[in-house]
Amino acid sequence: MYDFQPDSSLDTRERYRQLVDAADALTSTEPDPVANMANVAALIWEFVPDLNWAGFYRMGESAEGKRELVLGPFVGRPACIRIPIGAGVCGSAAQTGSTQLVEDVHTFAGHIACDAASRSEVVVPVLRDSEVIAVIDLDSPNEARFTDEDARGLEDLARLLADRI
Ligand code: SME
Repeated sequence: MYDFQPDSSLDTRERYRQLVDAADALTSTEPDPVANMANVAALIWEFVPDLNWAGFYRMGESAEGKRELVLGPFVGRPACIRIPIGAGVCGSAAQTGSTQLVEDVHTFAGHIACDAASRSEVVVPVLRDSEVIAVIDLDSPNEARFTDEDARGLEDLARLLADRI
């Protein structure tokens, strides 16, 4: 049995440090990317409070052979399956290769509402050899839920996962 329950008194930085350590322990010997993303989505859900969605979109291809994001393992309500590069918060992270921190999704032009409860969002690209291979997406029902500390913690997680997903 895996028991990675975080202590509720942890500050944000320590919480992400422990999340990255747990993700390292769970993925270091497993070569299957889907298994690793599934476990990491579950870990994010355990470690990061006040979420309504946490998971992955992977770089894939449309029927016409265009690059687009495709839904990967997640925790939360069923979500949009395919997102064009440049569309919404996830597509912007994939296009720019940089973290998107959105305090109020209602003010983000092009935001894609998969769950009407979402109010704030952070999306972090996973880069391998400078190419975006996936994004990690966290949604919260609370406005301005995510800070730069969340972004930095998730960027550490993305670096760890670059060759594990
Ligand atoms: N809101 C995202 C779409 C994905 S869902 O939040 C799970 C976006 O605008 O890209």
